[in-house]
Amino acid sequence: MSVPLLNASGCLDAVSAPEVARGLDAFVTKTITPLARDGNPPVRIAETAHGLLNSIGLQGPGIDGFVRDVLPRLRELGVSLWVSVGGFSAADFARVCERLEQEEGIDTIELNLSCPNVDEAPETAAELVAAARGATSKPLYAKLSPAQWDVATSARAVAAAGADGLSLVNTIRGLALDEHTLQPRLARGAGGYSGPALKPIALAAVWACASAVDLPIVGMGGVQSGQDALELVAAGATAVALGTVLFGDPGAPARIRAELIEAARALGLAGPAAAHRSSVAKSDENTCK
Ligand SMILES: Cc1cc2nc3c(=O)[nH]c(=O)nc-3n(C[C@H](O)[C@H](O)[C@H](O)COP(=O)(O)O)c2cc1C
Repeated sequence: MSVPLLNASGCLDAVSAPEVARGLDAFVTKTITPLARDGNPPVRIAETAHGLLNSIGLQGPGIDGFVRDVLPRLRELGVSLWVSVGGFSAADFARVCERLEQEEGIDTIELNLSCPNVDEAPETAAELVAAARGATSKPLYAKLSPAQWDVATSARAVAAAGADGLSLVNTIRGLALDEHTLQPRLARGAGGYSGPALKPIALAAVWACASAVDLPIVGMGGVQSGQDALELVAAGATAVALGTVLFGDPGAPARIRAELIEAARALGLAGPAAAHRSSVAKSDENTCK
């Protein structure tokens, strides 16, 4: 059995790069909000030594523009479609989910509960999931922030509120300063940090949540190679998403898929899915020794 590969939300534009999206098992849209948004002012991207900082700020056409102009083109891809949903209140999440409920061809809704580049909704992640759950019967994945000490508690709460799966992890807030002016390189100041430095953080979150809840998990954060993907599976992910790597390597889906199979073979596993921790050993990492 193979491991499904997706893109991470916001890291692939399937309309301008359909051939990349077709190399994935599912395409995940950039987060869609109720109203159109310009996002944050430039500069919004800064490369750092070990990862990328972004402060895009949920730029997008809003749900009406998405359904009218983008969704028909995504349906033509012939790839399973996930729509990422965001907002600034429980009512926002409910409104976007209600609108998507009427649309064909959307397999899963991913709830972006954790964007570090916009002001957060005052409600808890579980309250946002509950609001979305009341508005749609489509499968709901809750995307959680790694910036919390006990992500497993959030995982249990969103599971109880009706989430069907977890997406782990979003970016974590970071700051880069210009080496000459010592001023923030991003106009907004801090941004969301992604890329290789996120991998140990993602592994810890996936590991903790896989112990806490019995839900499928899309693991992401710093995946650059098949070995990285295999490690997320070993930590408890049932699927893996590619994010920052896609900006520099549009061929990453095929490359990582091949490397994943090879990495599993080198370890004597029947296939990548055989690395999944449920098929290896259950751990007792929640026990304080
Ligand atoms: C430029 C950029 C834009 C992003 N936009 C979104 C977004 O719209 N919604 C979302 O849930 N995550 C967004 N993310 C976060 C990614 O989906 C992913 O969680 C994160 O980048 C970690 O994976 P990576 O280290 O492989 O990039 C964005 C990340 C980047 C780099």
